[in-house]
Amino acid sequence: NRMYYYGTFPTDFLWGVTSSAYQIEGGWNAGGKGPSIWDTFTHTPGNVKNGDTGDVACDSYHRTDEDVRMLQALGVKYYRFSISWSRVLPDGTTAHVNEPGLKYYENLIDKLLQAGIEPQVTLYHWDLPQGLENMGGWQNVIMVEYFTQYADLMFSRLGPKVKRWITFNEPYIVANLGYGYGNFAPGVSNDPGVIPYVVAHHLIKSHAEAWHLYNDKYRAAQGGQISITLNADWAEPRNPYKQEDIDATYRYVEFFLGWFAHPIYIGDYSEIMKTTIRERSLAAGLPNGFKEVWAGLTEVWAGLTDCVVCYRGVGAVDDWSWLDSGSSWLKVTPFGIRRLLNHIKNTYGNPQILITENGVSEKGPVDLNDVVRQHYYNSYINEVLKARVLDGADVRGYTAWSLMDNFEWAEGYSERFGLYFVNRSDPKLTRTPKVSVQTFSTIIRFSHSKP
Ligand code: NOJ
Repeated sequence: NRMYYYGTFPTDFLWGVTSSAYQIEGGWNAGGKGPSIWDTFTHTPGNVKNGDTGDVACDSYHRTDEDVRMLQALGVKYYRFSISWSRVLPDGTTAHVNEPGLKYYENLIDKLLQAGIEPQVTLYHWDLPQGLENMGGWQNVIMVEYFTQYADLMFSRLGPKVKRWITFNEPYIVANLGYGYGNFAPGVSNDPGVIPYVVAHHLIKSHAEAWHLYNDKYRAAQGGQISITLNADWAEPRNPYKQEDIDATYRYVEFFLGWFAHPIYIGDYSEIMKTTIRERSLAAGLPNGFKEVWAGLTEVWAGLTDCVVCYRGVGAVDDWSWLDSGSSWLKVTPFGIRRLLNHIKNTYGNPQILITENGVSEKGPVDLNDVVRQHYYNSYINEVLKARVLDGADVRGYTAWSLMDNFEWAEGYSERFGLYFVNRSDPKLTRTPKVSVQTFSTIIRFSHSKP
């Protein structure tokens, strides 16, 4: 299990790196952009560590050329980034299209293509236009229509040059952290409650609508792919010989990845999920809320992020032997990604998989020789290689999180996931490669040939 496997990736295996709009762009009210729920949330004292905000972030709104140069130095084949909905539609609706906002993305896409880098676009990475949150946000089923109209506009305007779309980034986080625990925007607390399930349901519906829209109206002409990014913690039983622990582990994965993967790949929520939703809906006085069956949603590929492992036997415990990162929820457990990929292969009919994020954080004093990250990429990517070559999981590509240190949500700038260090005490926000830039670009360069 711990052994290194000396093999090579198929020649068409894709390598990329990723970011998201609110975490890097800054320019929070520049060029006609409307406010998003993350602007509101970070401007409210007490929500984010050290009072950090994404007002300036990495200033990518003004630094397209610099970003593209960093991508070129890495040697990636694609760049995954997200569109800020309220930058292109300031109040969230198509009533007013903000052309300067669109121009920013058109320019980025053109520069990427000139550099030989494929643009890969996420439509929703958590920054709902505040105007739509004022209508109830994802709790309101009308978001399905607004999201579809926004998606339609993006497909028609950017689709000629964008061949890979991702509707939602990690709906699990939106539902649970945004509308359940309330520690992410918009900060709605309802735990335990039915609201996260209502929100998740509307997100799945929105994904389905946008997927069908693309499929019916754009796919033939534009020839691209569209899918969703699901985050997927893996779990191991605390005691592998104890049925109770094995069951708990199964439930953990079902309520995490399965919450979204079952409806999308199999056509309906799993039984265990339906029971929970039914109980909570009944408790909230919603008798028939969740009867729809999701047929015809299956897409050829799905994205995965944050493949981490943790114990959820009975009560959450960590294994002392697992290496820590700068984030409490993230342990360095490379074997987990291989098991997760095999789980997906076996449960969902071996779909094509694109790993849309994988990475590790550090915090505290800056050390450009980021040994944990070097180890992380070497070991995780080797497990991905085993899953692909030895186990036959249909993994098509791997994306590192993240291009550079950025706004890590409620943790502000205290946790750094970047391949590039961003010096926040320098007004120029200089970006410097960490040693892992070498590690990752070397892996890419030699991935198809024997060492
Ligand atoms: C996944 C999320 O998509 C991204 O926004 C976040 O920064 C990383 N995980 C690290 O927490």
